[in-house]
Amino acid sequence: MRVGTSFLALLSLLSLLLSLPFSSAQLPPNTDISSRALDAILQDFAFKAFVRPKTGIPYDGQVPRSLTGIRVSAMRLRSGSLRTRGVKRYKEFQIPIGVVEQPYVERLVLVYHNLGNSSEKFYPLPGYSYLAPVLGLMSYSGANLSASELPELDIRASEKPILIKFPHLKSTPSGSVPKCVYFDLHGSVQFDILLHGNVCSTVQQGHFSIVVESNAPSPAPTAVAVAADFGKGDGKRNKDKVWIIVASLVGGCLLLIMLSLLVAKARRTKQGMKIQQLEWAAESNETLQMASIGGTKAPLAVGTRTRPTIENDYVP
Ligand SMILES: *[C@@H]1O[C@H](CO)[C@@H](O)[C@H](O)[C@H]1NC(C)=O
Ligand SMILES: *[C@@H]1O[C@H](CO)[C@@H](O)[C@H](O)[C@H]1NC(C)=O
Repeated sequence: MRVGTSFLALLSLLSLLLSLPFSSAQLPPNTDISSRALDAILQDFAFKAFVRPKTGIPYDGQVPRSLTGIRVSAMRLRSGSLRTRGVKRYKEFQIPIGVVEQPYVERLVLVYHNLGNSSEKFYPLPGYSYLAPVLGLMSYSGANLSASELPELDIRASEKPILIKFPHLKSTPSGSVPKCVYFDLHGSVQFDILLHGNVCSTVQQGHFSIVVESNAPSPAPTAVAVAADFGKGDGKRNKDKVWIIVASLVGGCLLLIMLSLLVAKARRTKQGMKIQQLEWAAESNETLQMASIGGTKAPLAVGTRTRPTIENDYVP
């Protein structure tokens, strides 16, 4: 009974541990810079691109060398113009009319991110591969262009959604269905259908990309090989890490289960031996004849003290 319950407890622990990296909506913090810290850094570098900026024109910013591969831009707008005219084209984004910010500001800045080959680093998504870089759209007050560590405004598309058109996708593995993925500013992830022409839609700011499911969490070695094929470069290393963690978790739990079974068995044997010893002690008043059976000496009982009786009607 005790063995049974501890076994169950171990099993539930195992499944809990296994499900953790896959069902959690929060992103695992596996980089030195969090995605939110990156947002703040990129806001700073995007604003630095402004030198006497005209409204409605994108200005490309420089990023520090440690972030090579990431692109950033900034566009300053009057909020009235954003609401009544939208922005026909801002890199991959199409902003329709009816986008309003909270709290109200007279001028705002839309910061664009293209995380390029750092997409998986800042937005790791176990079980999925990116077919496009992670793109970001963030809004800040445009009142002070020297300001850093600005909080984001909250923008909402109230009439039509904002569209993101991805120009190039990595080739899709046959049989898999590409999906849009959306990361909000609080670390939660949502999936959505991909519209015709590699377009994703949103009513909010955040980060966007297109993914396919790359592997189901299964320890079969063939699945690992397939997953490694899908992920390229950094993604592969990330996935390898996930597999190593999963494998060691499973191994550890199996070891625990086996150990607990062994302990339980040892206890039972010990109890059995104790009972045997008691029996032997009880019998030792009688002088037992020793007899040689095979190569070993064994006590030989001459007569039986109690006659064996059938306790219940057991029919084999
Ligand atoms: C991304 O690519 C650039 C070269 O285009 C390279 O310098 C940089 O180290 C790469 N970053 C990552 C995270 O792989
Ligand atoms: C703009 O922000 C910078 C940096 O935070 C600050 O030093 C400056 O005083 C601000 N200017 C205005 C007009 O608020």
